[in-house]
Amino acid sequence: MINLTKYMRKGLANAPENPILKFATYASQIPDVVKFTLGEPDFNTPDHIKKVAQKSITDNHSHYAPSNGTIGLRTAASIFLKKKYGQTYDPATEVLVTNGVSEGIFDTVVAVLNPGDVMVVPTPIFSLYMSDEAIINEGIEVVEIDTSQSDFKLTPKQLQQVIDQYGDRVRMLVMNYPTNPTGVVYTQSELDALADVIRDRPIFALCDEIYSELNYDQPHASMEKSLHDQVILMNGVSKSWAMTGYRIGIVCAPKEILTQIAKVHQTIVTTEPTPMQDAAEEAFKNGMDDAQQMKLEFQKRRDVLYEGLTKLGFVCAKPEGAFYIFAKIPTGFEQDDSKFIYDLVDKAHVAVTGGSCFAKGGEGYIRFSYAVAMSQIEEGLKRLEKYVKENRK
Ligand SMILES: Cc1ncc(COP(=O)(O)O)c(C=O)c1O
Repeated sequence: MINLTKYMRKGLANAPENPILKFATYASQIPDVVKFTLGEPDFNTPDHIKKVAQKSITDNHSHYAPSNGTIGLRTAASIFLKKKYGQTYDPATEVLVTNGVSEGIFDTVVAVLNPGDVMVVPTPIFSLYMSDEAIINEGIEVVEIDTSQSDFKLTPKQLQQVIDQYGDRVRMLVMNYPTNPTGVVYTQSELDALADVIRDRPIFALCDEIYSELNYDQPHASMEKSLHDQVILMNGVSKSWAMTGYRIGIVCAPKEILTQIAKVHQTIVTTEPTPMQDAAEEAFKNGMDDAQQMKLEFQKRRDVLYEGLTKLGFVCAKPEGAFYIFAKIPTGFEQDDSKFIYDLVDKAHVAVTGGSCFAKGGEGYIRFSYAVAMSQIEEGLKRLEKYVKENRK
């Protein structure tokens, strides 16, 4: 029989199996496992949003919506971004509704980059940025900037160095703040300084602000404020309203840029499900502050987990946003994070994500997601304490 797989797309064949999913499947087989692996809120979607989704189905909102999204949702998202963060996008021409930010990232990378172009990615970073590249890579070069030596923040100097090295080939800078997996938050002046490095150069800034409502200590800062014309902004309902399964993301950009990105969306998705768009409209319109309750709870969990881990000898910065703690594996333990996480889950029944899943600079770290109940955090810390006592070499 002919082996057809070898005639399929090369990027796919070379893309490695997703280590996060592989480990999640392994850990799930342990019946009493405490999981710090999930990158999604454990809360339920607020009731007022669920009701709108149900009503939308009952009212037969069962037809294709406009490809860029219902005008109701685009308008509600635009008003939300303006009121909350002062970001100005025309709902008619500058807002696109996608299948989560995940699709928004893919559409943008496809729409912007040509063979030979360089995409600059500060790492550690959400793994999708690396896997998209592996799949669609046709001569696109991803240049990782390891930020582990600068408190996991990209500095203007690091960015300038890459621009000096790659010159006009640099076409896109990826920014994600608050950051998955480190929980790092940039101040407005830090973002402004980075914006200055790429200002008036033919470089797009893909700014992934999916965790914008989960800033604990300062108001949300955005690169859009200082670099509107070059920014392609991502946001959505997954994290702020606990709606990961609804699959609604928002991409905003100046009209001419958005028009091109929308062509990719039209080709691969046509449009998002209408009832889910109605629900997301309700979230942006009448749930402006829904995330605040969740944030308070996340903050309590962060404090308990951070203090517990620090006592046990894990070195980690106190995260200022999102719901992740990125901790260094203490000395006296296996330093290869991909081996450490298997040992930990086998012996202590505690599941965490290995730092090297998030690219350069993540090696030797583990990511804890504290989007789990406080009781699980307490139980997880007890198990970790026992593990640390019994396994330190
Ligand atoms: C930084 C970042 N961007 C995007 C996403 C995906 O978001 P969505 O559910 O809207 O596709 C995630 C999910 O974990 C994330 O951490």
